[in-house]
Amino acid sequence: MRSRIIGTGSYLPERVITNFDLEKMVDTSDEWIRERTGIRERRVASEEEVASDLAHEASVKALQMAGLSPKDIDLIIVATVSGDMPLPSTACILQHKLDATKAAAFDINAACSGFIYALAVADAFIKSGIYRNILVVGTEVLSRFTDWQDRTTCVLLGDGAGAVVLTPSNNEYGVLSIKIFADGSMWDLLHIPAGGSKMPASEETVKNRLHFIKMRGNETFKVAVRTLEKLVIETLKENGVKSSELALLIPHQANMRIISATAKRLGLSLDRVMLNLDKYGNTSAASIPIALDEAARQGKIKEGDYILLEAFGGGLTWGAALIRW
Ligand code: ACO
Repeated sequence: MRSRIIGTGSYLPERVITNFDLEKMVDTSDEWIRERTGIRERRVASEEEVASDLAHEASVKALQMAGLSPKDIDLIIVATVSGDMPLPSTACILQHKLDATKAAAFDINAACSGFIYALAVADAFIKSGIYRNILVVGTEVLSRFTDWQDRTTCVLLGDGAGAVVLTPSNNEYGVLSIKIFADGSMWDLLHIPAGGSKMPASEETVKNRLHFIKMRGNETFKVAVRTLEKLVIETLKENGVKSSELALLIPHQANMRIISATAKRLGLSLDRVMLNLDKYGNTSAASIPIALDEAARQGKIKEGDYILLEAFGGGLTWGAALIRW
């Protein structure tokens, strides 16, 4: 038995912040951001919107496409690093907003790889026969954890949510393989120093801006390129699928230069790569399900197509999923 995605949905907040807006906030330029990252603009949640609201909008659309009601859902997994609050999980708040009373619910923190991690857990629950219908959501309101005075991070990040509904499939379609990895020795390349048990919130942590995302971008970049090139090649090889057979690569939307390097290693031209980072920036765990939903709704993937998802992020974590749509 395999798991199969039968519904996708996404939600992006309305407010747009362009590179030109950022030029007025920090010492940067539209040209630098476009050339170094490929990003032109990003979305930012309104003051009233929190991660579970974005997740709710995306989930309703995914359930609609799947033709299921919230009461049909057995499990909700939310991947996020910017949930509503540290306790309880955003998945429990989403369960309540959806009125998905039957569903168990929990969060996963694997930063930008969060969606692939959540998909791997959902896939295992379905294969084992424990659950039938699982809602997997990536949702981020990174803007609340972004230091809008730090040009090395604020130009990269954005808010959004994407969701998928998985169900068992008895044919050759569905998730063919998922691999997830981590290397905690590099945890400090990408982290939020304060707000946990190591450094609880205090006047000092607020004053020193320690509740914001800190990233050693260039080091992260190098590890990401090296790791992802190896990962995508191995994933295809292990499944006996040639890159020429891939209909679409759906990468985590972190940086155009990382995506291009991965595509080049696979010998794929960019028209076979799903790209939306110019519009949304890096939305961490939300980026792949948003891109997947746009690809599905734009007719870029059709039944029987091979698609490859891949992500790399804080932890460090990384992973890939090969799917027959
Ligand atoms: N505008 C103008 N100049 C800038 C900006 C900016 N916004 N940001 C940095 N610079 C400067 C730096 O200060 C540096 O100046 P210096 O040479 O005088 O010191 C110069 O530009 C080059 O900086 P680098 O950091 O070396 O630039 P790089 O080419 O590596 O690009 C970037 C930076 C875009 C952050 C890139 O490293 C990157 O994308 N890294 C990977 C990010 C990623 O994938 N993270 C994982 C997922 S995120 C998650 O999990 C939430």
